[in-house]
Amino acid sequence: MIIAIDGPAASGKGTISKKLAQHFDLPHMDTGLLYRAVGYAMRDDLDQPNWEQLAIDKAQSLDLSHFHEHDLTTAEAGVAASKVARVPEVRAALREVQLNFASQAGGAILDGRDIGTRICPEADVKLYVTADAFTRAQRRTKQLNARGVDVTIDEILAQIEKRDADDKNNPAGAFFIAEDAHLLDTTKLSIETAFQAALELVNDVLAQKKSS
Ligand code: C5P
Repeated sequence: MIIAIDGPAASGKGTISKKLAQHFDLPHMDTGLLYRAVGYAMRDDLDQPNWEQLAIDKAQSLDLSHFHEHDLTTAEAGVAASKVARVPEVRAALREVQLNFASQAGGAILDGRDIGTRICPEADVKLYVTADAFTRAQRRTKQLNARGVDVTIDEILAQIEKRDADDKNNPAGAFFIAEDAHLLDTTKLSIETAFQAALELVNDVLAQKKSS
């Protein structure tokens, strides 16, 4: 079984995916980390005239075990990820990694931006998890403050809105909501309620598939 979960930054898709993976005992890939790793590896080179080729080289030889998740989950890595994610050859290299992960026996859960549209268009279940920008900024600010990072909600809201806009206009991306995706708006939901709602959607789709 393949479950594809897409949505914007801090929508709750990562937490929901991890909990679904635990529930269904499926391996889970946070595909944003791949782009973040390439962005992070490029952090000193993004102003180089040949930055695109350098990013392609990094994507083609990516080994996630060389990175600490802590370094990849910063706001700066998110901005760099969004930049390298515009390079078609970077996307192509990372697509291979995602397809390998998705093709393992028993299935997998992948979360990202284009899982239901481009990576796994045949996924058994597709969810599109979203929340309004202010709520997403609130969540991200809380997470960063808890880690001791001194940021304000205004700064994070501005970053989230810029990244939303950059991602939406990414000419190499396929960041639209798949026609057969089920929408889940987590704006007013706690983590547990959002997970329960996601689980219900997944179970409904699986039950429908079984009976048809
Ligand atoms: O989901 P996350 O915020 O970690 O993603 C970081 C960035 O990586 C996104 O803003 C997007 O530009 C890029 N990305 C992508 N395709 C994916 C996942 C993430 O282009 N499947």
